[in-house]
Amino acid sequence: MVKVDPGSMIAGLGTAVPEKVLTNFDLEKMVETSDQWIRERSGIERRHILDDNVCNSDLGVEAARKAIAEAGITPEEVECIILATISPDNVFPATACRVQAKLGANHAAAFDISAACSGFIYGLQLGDSLIKSGVYKNVLVLGSEALSRFTDWQDRSTCVLFGDAAGAVLLVPSDGKRGILSTYLKSDGRLAELLNVPAGGAILPASHETVDGRLHFIKMEGRDVFKHAVRTMIDAAKKAVKLSRLEFKDIDLLIPHQANIRIIEAIAERVHIAREKIVVNLQEYGNTSSATIPLALAEARKEGRIPAGTKCLLVAFGGGFTWASAVVQF
Ligand code: ACO
Repeated sequence: MVKVDPGSMIAGLGTAVPEKVLTNFDLEKMVETSDQWIRERSGIERRHILDDNVCNSDLGVEAARKAIAEAGITPEEVECIILATISPDNVFPATACRVQAKLGANHAAAFDISAACSGFIYGLQLGDSLIKSGVYKNVLVLGSEALSRFTDWQDRSTCVLFGDAAGAVLLVPSDGKRGILSTYLKSDGRLAELLNVPAGGAILPASHETVDGRLHFIKMEGRDVFKHAVRTMIDAAKKAVKLSRLEFKDIDLLIPHQANIRIIEAIAERVHIAREKIVVNLQEYGNTSSATIPLALAEARKEGRIPAGTKCLLVAFGGGFTWASAVVQF
């Protein structure tokens, strides 16, 4: 077991997933696609979708409640809430503030971060740093998404990929055994146009034209994004392992962002991580952006794959472009 320098550790983990399921066969009735194409090209079989009367912060608060309950603290004791999302309740206020209000975490500072699918690991580094520096004694980090609200259900090249979910962790000072061993973040804003929601911001405010042009939905150049995702996630995986002074053979579990099974397999092959050490659940949830990593962590734990001392390598890639990685010892 690696000795953990004073930093932070995950004291609680919670997730929330809508009950409503949309299968590939349901999508066959909505756009020109097939279950076979979606499974072969992405690995996805189903995704969970929010009901009309539920929003991002409802999922976030459900995940947050579970994380803080496991950590054994009350909402009033939460000191900081960092929520990563690209599908917020509003442009502002922050969805983190809505989660704060619903949770009753009335003594916390709360704000959102936008780093797309890498957002949860960005939040993890931020939370870890705030605890290391002594600013806070605990930080609630969420990845929370209502992507179905930003999905163009007429665009077969994107609508088959995304789903809704939230995941939350409560970070507290490390006990010297468990903890975040390393984090690594990187971005390249020159590639912003390959994956974005074009309208609704200051560049292209909402108008009849933007609505008619379906510009308030996710647009993606899938092939280009795929290539960058593989290259940058390999880079990120190597960086986090090196920063934690470990080698790939020391990693017990790879928790990759769940966008496409072919991306995950390409990364695993390049860093020589065996299939049984990889957590894959995209067949059930699709790409839930910032929520994929906590969702996969929770699932692995439920399956008994994270006993004490397990070293997990988290790695993600998303719009921006952004990419990120972390090694966490449980
Ligand atoms: N059903 C059937 N055919 C389809 C569908 C569909 N749902 N979607 C596209 N096609 C067609 C295309 O039109 C194309 O046809 P053509 O050859 O006649 O032009 C053909 O299938 C192949 O299309 P590609 O885009 O080349 O398919 P590809 O194998 O690249 O798979 C995919 C597409 C799944 C989107 C893949 O490129 C991918 O996973 N990209 C990366 C996604 C990702 O990692 N995103 C990052 C995070 S997302 C975030 O940050 C929010």
